[in-house]
Amino acid sequence: MAAIRFDIMTLFPELVDTVLGESIIGRARKNGIVEVFAHNIRDYSKDKFRRVDDTPYGGGKGMLMKPDPICDCFDAITAEFPQKPYTVYMSPKGTVFTQKKARELSRLSHIVILCGHYEGVDQRAIDAIVDEEISIGDYVLTGGEIPATVLVDAVSRLIDGVLADPECHEKESHTQNLLEYPQYTRPFDFRGVTVPEVLISGHHENIEKWRREEARKLTEKKRPDLLEDP
Ligand SMILES: C[S@@+](CC[C@H](N)C(=O)[O-])C[C@H]1O[C@@H](n2cnc3c(N)ncnc32)[C@H](O)[C@@H]1O
Repeated sequence: MAAIRFDIMTLFPELVDTVLGESIIGRARKNGIVEVFAHNIRDYSKDKFRRVDDTPYGGGKGMLMKPDPICDCFDAITAEFPQKPYTVYMSPKGTVFTQKKARELSRLSHIVILCGHYEGVDQRAIDAIVDEEISIGDYVLTGGEIPATVLVDAVSRLIDGVLADPECHEKESHTQNLLEYPQYTRPFDFRGVTVPEVLISGHHENIEKWRREEARKLTEKKRPDLLEDP
């Protein structure tokens, strides 16, 4: 059984599948550690033209996603599970996604994600199925598919077995309220700029100390707010 399963409700399942079919997450899916199913909300439209959107009551620009195809899609996904899975709506009105939230979600075994499009989703569908609204940042995108792939990627890489070396997370940016220290690989001399001597000293304690100091300096300079985070 997979360690975590994501069911993504979307009007563009290929978009989600393509992004999450490559590289590390694609491999984790092939290895059965992570499961991702993209469901086309349009398949649940009862309209003969397969419409899933309509004009908003009260007027205004744009179209809204209708509640019935969304809730029917959700019911079909969840029918086989005894408990309602944790359900997230990707939305610019949600709380902003962080590494802490990714870690919290990585402890769940099943997450359903609703991707909105157009002007968004009828509030009744949100009220009926959604546990949490999550935004990937304070800007507005055309749809929830890219945000959903961001969430699935960030959560999945925290699952055991997805990254080759589980220690990769430990000193990463945002893990200990710090940004990661600068890193270098070969060549030693690149266009006249050499690697800090301490890194080739072989002295592990000094290397660790240098990395801690650099991480702190970088965080103070670029993201001092992180150091104040409880
Ligand atoms: C154009 S947006 C709708 C914006 C909505 N009218 C508003 O002002 O809040 C369409 C869809 O894109 C997704 N979306 C847009 N920006 C997002 C963000 N920053 N984070 C997560 N999802 C976002 C949501 O699923 C949303 O329903």
